[in-house]
Amino acid sequence: MSPTLPRYTRITGTGSHLPPRRVTNDDLARDLAARGIETTDQWIVERTGIRARHFAADGVACSDLSLPAAQAALAAAGRRPEDVDLIIVATSTPDMVFPATATILQAKLGITNGSPAFDLQAVCSGFIYALSVADSLIRTGAAKTALVIGAEVFSRILDFNDRTTCVLFGDGAGAVVLEASAEPGLLATELHADGRHAGILCTPGTVAGGRVIGDPTLKMDGQAVFKLAVGVLEDVARSVLAKAGRTEADIDFLIPHQANIRIMQGTAKKLKLAADKLIVTVDEHGNTSAASIPLALDAAVRAGRIRRGHRVMLEGVGGGFTWGAAFVEF
Ligand code: UT7
Repeated sequence: MSPTLPRYTRITGTGSHLPPRRVTNDDLARDLAARGIETTDQWIVERTGIRARHFAADGVACSDLSLPAAQAALAAAGRRPEDVDLIIVATSTPDMVFPATATILQAKLGITNGSPAFDLQAVCSGFIYALSVADSLIRTGAAKTALVIGAEVFSRILDFNDRTTCVLFGDGAGAVVLEASAEPGLLATELHADGRHAGILCTPGTVAGGRVIGDPTLKMDGQAVFKLAVGVLEDVARSVLAKAGRTEADIDFLIPHQANIRIMQGTAKKLKLAADKLIVTVDEHGNTSAASIPLALDAAVRAGRIRRGHRVMLEGVGGGFTWGAAFVEF
């Protein structure tokens, strides 16, 4: 790499936003009972670790959740919107088919410097994919100050007649500011996909001839996803550590995709990490897909748990089938 190019990309600020409506398992069980569908707080907690999730109000779009998250991350980084020269929004629930939510957000932030803004769709791995892409663009000199956001309104694509999926997901947004830096930094990232498993987690509807064709709600074979997730999360963590020239002992905190506490604890155990190194927000947020990692990261930073110098393993996994990890020094 040329000596004039930055060696590292650093996370210099984090932010997040949850829509105000908090829905507990009991609230949801009551609503589902009115439709003749049975679920319980006990089943949801035992199988997933989820106790509550947040749902956006009607009319609130992905960019509306992204805006306060981005503003909080910029404030934490001490940057103004006009300093941003790249926006990537990782989402599977964009405001509209096009234009990209990232461009809508750019306008809402008042950025008029003509810098690129685009969406990235890798479902629950989206934030890790976006982080890795932004890292590459910064380290090749194409950008200096990037906003990377994971934001979802998954409540819009849930089938509330399907108890096997509708109890699992929530809405929210998390953001980071990434900057070119001589100091670490993102130490290593790694991305993967295996499209042979596209059918186990998908929203198969599409728009054609002005109509929705197929089913526009989320479908998941939970057990198949569970089995794949458990395997790849351990493998990709080890692989990214090797790339960074580190070992499990160098991990101060683990933030896996927040989908199921059993998968998260299983991954921590395989990496021989003590329970207090695992950051958990799935209990309060549910599975917020691309937003889950930056939401958990911001919660841990604002709680004073993750501080400058800490090394954090971020791991995504989900539809596609996609997975990936980023090992980051704060
Ligand atoms: O975001 C991308 C990544 N996603 C994930 O990582 C999700 C991975 N998968 C999972 O987290 C789990 O597979 C689930 C939480 C989705 C399901 O847990 P499980 O332990 O695999 O349950 P199951 O699908 O084997 O279902 C067990 C039973 C079934 O009843 P029977 O057939 O044993 O009589 C289901 O019908 O639980 C029943 N069930 C429910 N019962 C009450 C399924 N959903 C519910 C529900 N309330 N909401």
